[in-house]
Amino acid sequence: MKGSSHPTNDVTLAASSSPSIREVMGNVEASRRQFLRSSIQTAALASMGGLTLGGLVETVHAAPVPASLGFPGMGFDSVPANTRALNVSLGGSASSVVDRVTVPAGYTANLFVAWGDPIVAGGKPFRGDAAETAADQLKQFGMHNDGMHFFPFPGTSGTAASDRGILCVNNEYTHEDILFTDGQANGYNIAKTRKSQAAHGVSVLEARRVNGKWTVMKSSVYGRRITANTPCRVSGPAAGHALMKANAYTITDTGSVATGAQLDGYTAYGTINNCANGVTPWGTYLTCEENWNGNFGSTAALPGTSTEAGKLYNRYGVTATGFGYLWHTTDPRFNLAANPLETNLFGWIVEIDPFDPRALPVKRTALGRFKHESAQYVVDAQNNVAFYMGDDERNEYIYKFVCANKFNPTNRAANRQLLDSGTLYVARFDSSLNGQWIALEPGTIGLNGQALRDHPNFAGANDAEVQAKILIKTRMAADAVGATMMDRPEWTGARPRINGYDEIEVYCTLTNNNRRGSSTTATSNAIDGSTTAGSARPAVDAANPAADNVYGHIIRWREAGKSVLSTTFAWDLFVQAGDTATTKTAKTTNTYQGTIVDNPNGSADYGAPDGLWFDPFGRLWVQTDQVGDGSGDFVNIGGNMMVCVDPNTGMTRRFMTAPNKCEVTGVAMTPDGKTMFVGIQHPGEDSGYANPTQFSNWPQNQFTVEADGVTPLPAGRPRSSLVVITKDDGGVIGS
Ligand code: FEO
Ligand code: CA
Ligand code: CA
Repeated sequence: MKGSSHPTNDVTLAASSSPSIREVMGNVEASRRQFLRSSIQTAALASMGGLTLGGLVETVHAAPVPASLGFPGMGFDSVPANTRALNVSLGGSASSVVDRVTVPAGYTANLFVAWGDPIVAGGKPFRGDAAETAADQLKQFGMHNDGMHFFPFPGTSGTAASDRGILCVNNEYTHEDILFTDGQANGYNIAKTRKSQAAHGVSVLEARRVNGKWTVMKSSVYGRRITANTPCRVSGPAAGHALMKANAYTITDTGSVATGAQLDGYTAYGTINNCANGVTPWGTYLTCEENWNGNFGSTAALPGTSTEAGKLYNRYGVTATGFGYLWHTTDPRFNLAANPLETNLFGWIVEIDPFDPRALPVKRTALGRFKHESAQYVVDAQNNVAFYMGDDERNEYIYKFVCANKFNPTNRAANRQLLDSGTLYVARFDSSLNGQWIALEPGTIGLNGQALRDHPNFAGANDAEVQAKILIKTRMAADAVGATMMDRPEWTGARPRINGYDEIEVYCTLTNNNRRGSSTTATSNAIDGSTTAGSARPAVDAANPAADNVYGHIIRWREAGKSVLSTTFAWDLFVQAGDTATTKTAKTTNTYQGTIVDNPNGSADYGAPDGLWFDPFGRLWVQTDQVGDGSGDFVNIGGNMMVCVDPNTGMTRRFMTAPNKCEVTGVAMTPDGKTMFVGIQHPGEDSGYANPTQFSNWPQNQFTVEADGVTPLPAGRPRSSLVVITKDDGGVIGS
């Protein structure tokens, strides 16, 4: 995330956003909506009163949606767990897993794009020694890719193409000892900060299938890098508030110089820690700012928690040392001592129009400020729109934003401000297996009996200011109203409403929580917003039933009345992840074995579910962010993977295993379902600069040439990458 202030690709490209492309986006959505039609009511959650916690998952499996509803099936067998033992059996080391991507028989995974590949006109090929400058990185694919989406171009006869489109890909964070030839510690300077900033953000690239081979169009007018320094707009109820008026800087390659003025509250620079993603039904990309706190630091002690700034820092995990980045030592914009309000410009959902390279990213404050993981939209039968979102930190919350106005399926322009007005809700999961969406608005009465407008954290001159503060301090508002603390909410995904299935059913991965049930004296996030991020030690509850939740779980809920406007829902646990063969000593609430349905038993065990996505055919894909080298609690489960799950029965098969010390995150498909892009993030993490390939030499030890099939793949260091997966018989992925 270190980029120079004015990425030229933001402003100089000719935007070919012709009306025809915009119309096609409307058509794309229209075709997508055929999956969203409601018709027959089926298999709503049965009444579950009186069940034990352990009975929840069985009940779900005992009441499957009828097969007649057309789940397309899984036409592949699980690939083996990528364990250390497997690596040894193949002649490898006993301290790592197999350093390759493996997919089932009948499928092929090719390298598509890797960190450092040119994606913008004039971009240089990746060198391999990381000697690229910040200016070079600004034209190259960013580091540590995460969530993504494929936006198809026009196809024939008004359809959406499956051989050409724009891929928007998040670049979540950087590994400085891989990013710089001499690492972070040696001679840190502004040039390194700028390169790191340029490797963060979002990569927008054009992908084409040419003669059967997927290729990055390296000089496409749509190629674009959005970085930590890209000018952005701020919109919605918090825009313009005094807390958003950070100091203004003139940002150049050689430094950020304070102008002496403040920003206007409607302007921000850059987006960072872009974890997972969303899309809108009107064809824009949503990038979600997650661990933005880690990129800040301070050259002086932080203000105490009796101050508004200090309290915010504490609740959002902002510290003087952050995650160890050194940006703040060379760029005062990220130095809290010099620029204390800059943090308030991060933690948002950011909307990007992939078809207009000139359009500024827009930070949509109405969707709240937290550590956003992803944003999954649902349009209900009445064209009401909601976005479901998780805040990924231990003991944080699940949210939904409901747009005030309806989606217009025939007029893209009419939808463009839908994200600026609406209601943000936070979820309370009750032990009755029902839940409440609690509105975060001035009149909501908190647990202390006060309306939020009277709560000292949100006090303002009027309700407009109160709402702005509620959004800037979303976590504190959720604390005040008694939302349910969850085991790290990661991705959300909505089950397609197809083949007569018409429930609004949303899933969320809860990746793990080692603080759950970890103290005999349970503690909760305080309703005055004073709890340090991630520090509470909550007791187990119905929605988070496992103490020491090492392996995580997946929860799902159904909106009452099949309306996204509903303030009540029914929920259940879809699965508890685990290791069938574990030797860990069971706890009262947690055997660590999980409830994964697979065949044979244990053949698709996984832990730390993170990426979660439904394909348009109704298959659920889950990607993991476990310990990446098959060590410790993951010795049987092995390295990271992507599994495919039948939401009716829970049947799970392992579709992909991944290289050493990586995670699998990010997935996208072409409209025909025959091409899948999957992200491999941070292979070989933790290596030092002197030996970048200490833990992984992927992708170059699996692939010898770039996706074009010609250009030799430079060696030198592991690279986060996308692989492109096709079925050898040309069929739909997973079929
Ligand atoms: Fe960036 Fe919550 O994963
Ligand atoms: Ca994630
Ligand atoms: Ca994760």
